Amino acid sequence: MIVFATNNAHKLDEVRQILKGRIEVLSLKDIGCDVDIPETADTFEGNAWQKARYVKEHYGYDCMADDSGLEVDALGGEPGVHSARYAATADGRGHDSEANMDLLLAKMQNKSARNARFRTALALMYKGDEQLFNGVVEGRILTARHGTGGFGYDPIFMPDGYDRSFAEMSPEQKNAISHRGRALQQMVQYLTQEHKL
Ligand code: IMP
Repeated sequence: MIVFATNNAHKLDEVRQILKGRIEVLSLKDIGCDVDIPETADTFEGNAWQKARYVKEHYGYDCMADDSGLEVDALGGEPGVHSARYAATADGRGHDSEANMDLLLAKMQNKSARNARFRTALALMYKGDEQLFNGVVEGRILTARHGTGGFGYDPIFMPDGYDRSFAEMSPEQKNAISHRGRALQQMVQYLTQEHKL
């Protein structure tokens, strides 16, 4: 059993699907944690460790925590660690995927270099061991939304080698190639090698 330090239903589904039959995954809600765990680091890795350590220290469970985001080369790596709140104003307005996509599309108007990547850092504290896994998927930013699946920036991100956005893929298709899917695959490979599954 492991706690995944998130309450994002989409992410929980992704992770539960990948670990199905191998490890039972509990959410923060499942363990009665309703605080907004601080994520104040300036790197994905730092935030992932911050969340994992919080759960371990306050609740004592083995846990995993991820921090992900989108890096757009033409914008110097923005929105990066600010992906979730990219369009948010000081009073908290604009903290949603639609506003984030509108802002990114506006900043990318007239930009011909549209390459970008999703990146995930996944911190694992399990059976006395601490490990970090990184997952990356390269792609490009579309000029408009395509598809209605997924979450976050999915409708405007097309992974390299495909002619569909993440939001036009089934969850299984996305999981197989996504940044989080790749980080999780590495974690499963590691746990299998170490006979911890
Ligand atoms: P988190 O750290 O995984 O919660 O991700 C931070 C933000 O990055 C999310 O709120 C989304 O805006 C964006 N993001 C992360 N992963 C994805 C994804 O798979 N698709 C679309 N957007 C994502």
